[in-house]
Amino acid sequence: MQAQSLNWKRQGLRIGLVPTMGFLHEGHLSLMDIAAAHADLVVVSIFVNPTQFGPTEDLEAYPRNLERDLALCRERGVAAVFTPEPSDVYGQEYQSYVSLEKLPNHLCGLSRPVHFRGVATVVSKLFNIVLPDIAVFGEKDFQQLAVIRRLTEDLNFPVRIMGGPIVRESDGLAMSSRNAYLSSEERASALCLSEALKNTAAEVEKGERDVAVLKASAEKTIFSRPHTEIDYIAFCDPQTLEAVDLIDGPTLMALAVKVGSTRLIDNQVLRVG
Ligand code: PAJ
Repeated sequence: MQAQSLNWKRQGLRIGLVPTMGFLHEGHLSLMDIAAAHADLVVVSIFVNPTQFGPTEDLEAYPRNLERDLALCRERGVAAVFTPEPSDVYGQEYQSYVSLEKLPNHLCGLSRPVHFRGVATVVSKLFNIVLPDIAVFGEKDFQQLAVIRRLTEDLNFPVRIMGGPIVRESDGLAMSSRNAYLSSEERASALCLSEALKNTAAEVEKGERDVAVLKASAEKTIFSRPHTEIDYIAFCDPQTLEAVDLIDGPTLMALAVKVGSTRLIDNQVLRVG
């Protein structure tokens, strides 16, 4: 892959990278379109990265369908799909990791302690292997995007990071490969995440600024559906991810909710005035 990328670079071609774990959906495809609009060619990586899964998480069960993914990439005009095996990425003597000091100490980092170290490590490796000029990540994983922006600046990667908006199903559910785990009853309950975001935005629109009040009504929305368990409802500064208790500027509202045994996330930036 690196030899191919060096070859492209010698020809003056700009490479756009979209890192994924496969089982592609419209959210992933929208990132490929953004990459294509800002680069000469698009590389998609498909790698279910073991180091970002905790010991009790869904690494083995993570949905996979490489044939279908390759067909979708081909249709989208992707120049190359990079699909390494775990043993290619992490050799036997592997011992080098990238970890951030502060950004992982919030939101998903609290319930998934090794997650962002795994993400930061694999994305750094992908940057070194694929040598992209730009790389595109979804705002669906807001904290991940913040971590990647930070590490790119901190470690001087010559890569422009771009974010893509959250792509949703027609009823509002944010697209995710993990939605494949939901039973039909759970699929209905999963709507509580986007509903809680929508209701909160409406309350802020009407003038509510108190995070405790907004949180309580989001909890009510989520618990009105069966099989739901809240991991977190957070209101925080979109840059530092530090919690706020009053909405007085752009504020990230982020949710993680278990629906049955599937953990789902969603978010939006609330704006006032
Ligand atoms: P994965 O969950 O496959 O997501 C790949 C990219 O697609 C991420 O940047 C994610 O934010 C984006 N994405 C997922 N659902 C989306 C949606 N509904 N709308 C817009 N974008 C969406 O995120 C990962 O893989 C991994 O952690 C990875 C970055 C590849 C590192 O292993």
